[in-house]
Amino acid sequence: MKAVLMDGFGGVEVMKIGEADKPVAAEGQVLLKVHATSVNRPDLVQRMGNYPPPPGDSTILGLEVAGVIEELGAGVTGWKVGDRVMTLVGGGSYAEFAVAYASHLMPIPESMSFEEAACVCESYITAFLNLFMVGGLKDNNTAIIHGGGGGVNMAGVQLCKALVPNTKLIVTASPDKLDRVKGMGVDLVVNFKENPDFTEIVKEFTNKKGVDVILDHVGAKYLAPNMNSLGYAGRLVIIGVISGIKAELNLALMMVKRQQIIGSVLRSRPVKDKGEIVAEFIRTALPKFADRTIVPIIEKVFTLDQVVEAHRMMEEDRHFGKIVIKIA
Ligand SMILES: NC(=O)c1ccc[n+]([C@@H]2O[C@H](COP(=O)([O-])OP(=O)(O)OC[C@H]3O[C@@H](n4cnc5c(N)ncnc54)[C@H](OP(=O)(O)O)[C@@H]3O)[C@@H](O)[C@H]2O)c1
Repeated sequence: MKAVLMDGFGGVEVMKIGEADKPVAAEGQVLLKVHATSVNRPDLVQRMGNYPPPPGDSTILGLEVAGVIEELGAGVTGWKVGDRVMTLVGGGSYAEFAVAYASHLMPIPESMSFEEAACVCESYITAFLNLFMVGGLKDNNTAIIHGGGGGVNMAGVQLCKALVPNTKLIVTASPDKLDRVKGMGVDLVVNFKENPDFTEIVKEFTNKKGVDVILDHVGAKYLAPNMNSLGYAGRLVIIGVISGIKAELNLALMMVKRQQIIGSVLRSRPVKDKGEIVAEFIRTALPKFADRTIVPIIEKVFTLDQVVEAHRMMEEDRHFGKIVIKIA
């Protein structure tokens, strides 16, 4: 099968289109014909050699598939060959075929294209898991989502608007993306280039109360402003560390304010855990995609042969929402 292969680790130039063996569905898995996948920031980190796939998963890049079931592995029930599905994979979606666990499959609603479906699993499930299941965001809460314009972050905004519309949302964004983020109904947009310390802005906006939940992928540089912006019993959920991994923490303040810092990763969770997260997502969020309350924001659709350009677009932060790779 055709796939994106790598000559070692490094810049976009290490990616090459080549031939790989078609994967085989093990017990509890299905073989999928991949129609579309999308670029996620962790793909770039993996390409650089800093995010290896969990043991047993494909070493080919790509974390999500929108496609059609080609074959059922032993013991798979409830699905049939030809079903249109979208799913998380531990790796391997930058290829014509990939395998996935049946317990991670979601039906693609009739109203969605393969390109739209290719945006859902990694970004929206990451945002859903960390804002609601881990972060415990509920009615009338205030939240900060960092990085307006990014895939996970825009997914978070759309999910809050659709599932808990009375959330007060603060989003940080770079200058050229501020207006578009504001246009999504966000309550306060903060220019992160001008305000690397956003504490005072958040304090003023929340009448000194602070926020209930923060979804953060910036890491070290934002630890202090995040903790200073968090209210009593607030939760800081860290899903990325783009600015570094080491920072100083005021433990006394954290204790007195009963705050929690939670690290969270989706890819390396046990298969069973991911199945439970997917089941909750199907129950709660999927109907909002089916009725088009939530429509994934797609910056551009590339072909597999254009994978270098697709990665370059993300590397240079020229996207708003998702970058899709169409394969079939
Ligand atoms: N833990 C998990 O399970 C998990 C799963 C998926 C992704 N992630 C992580 O989540 C993050 C987002 O992934 P993605 O695929 O959505 O990538 P993405 O589309 O490239 O989004 C990244 C966003 O970060 C913004 N950003 C850069 N510097 C910032 C700063 N100082 N403050 C606030 N925002 C800043 C960028 O804004 P501009 O474009 O405006 O510069 C961009 O919109 C990555 O760090 C990724 O590794 C974690």
